[in-house]
Amino acid sequence: MLFLADESATIDFARRLLSKMPQDLAGWTVLLSGELGAGKSTFARALIRAAGHEGPVPSPTYTLVEPYLLPRSTIYHIDLYRVSDEEELRYLGWEELDDGLRLVEWPDRAPGLSAQADLALTLAYESTGRRAELRGLSERGEALMRDFDLP
Ligand SMILES: Nc1ncnc2c1ncn2[C@@H]1O[C@H](COP(=O)(O)OP(=O)(O)OP(=O)(O)O)[C@@H](O)[C@H]1O
Ligand SMILES: [Mg+2]
Repeated sequence: MLFLADESATIDFARRLLSKMPQDLAGWTVLLSGELGAGKSTFARALIRAAGHEGPVPSPTYTLVEPYLLPRSTIYHIDLYRVSDEEELRYLGWEELDDGLRLVEWPDRAPGLSAQADLALTLAYESTGRRAELRGLSERGEALMRDFDLP
């Protein structure tokens, strides 16, 4: 459990998490949960920028997937807010997005996802900041957690 006092703490946390991940992020899946405004997109944007993307990181709410082909690794920023089941997930080409990191907002829209994911970050409102809980879901996700000494 980690308290993120303000937006810059969320950004710093995203940078730290990326620094613990392998250079090649192919096949990794990170789930970002939390209610409206909890900071999922702030976290995703910070991680994408930390991986070398310069410029805007538009919301994938309507496009569902925004790809970033970065020298380090491809990152797919995915927003399932408008998705209602696993069938739609197949339709958006989920299976083909395995050559990069899948960073998924609103993963609970497709409940089967947690079985395929490596890490789950849950953000919640706490006073004027946010509380962050990071969990390892796969073996390599758990290994990363052990290596990640949260204060
Ligand atoms: N640790 C934090 N403390 C306080 N405010 C924060 C923190 N992290 C992000 N914010 C702020 O929360 C607001 C909402 O953030 P963001 O858009 O990332 O949320 P979201 O979870 O993606 O929301 P949505 O579900 O609507 O897409 C932004 O104004 C952002 O600056
Ligand atoms: Mg968002």
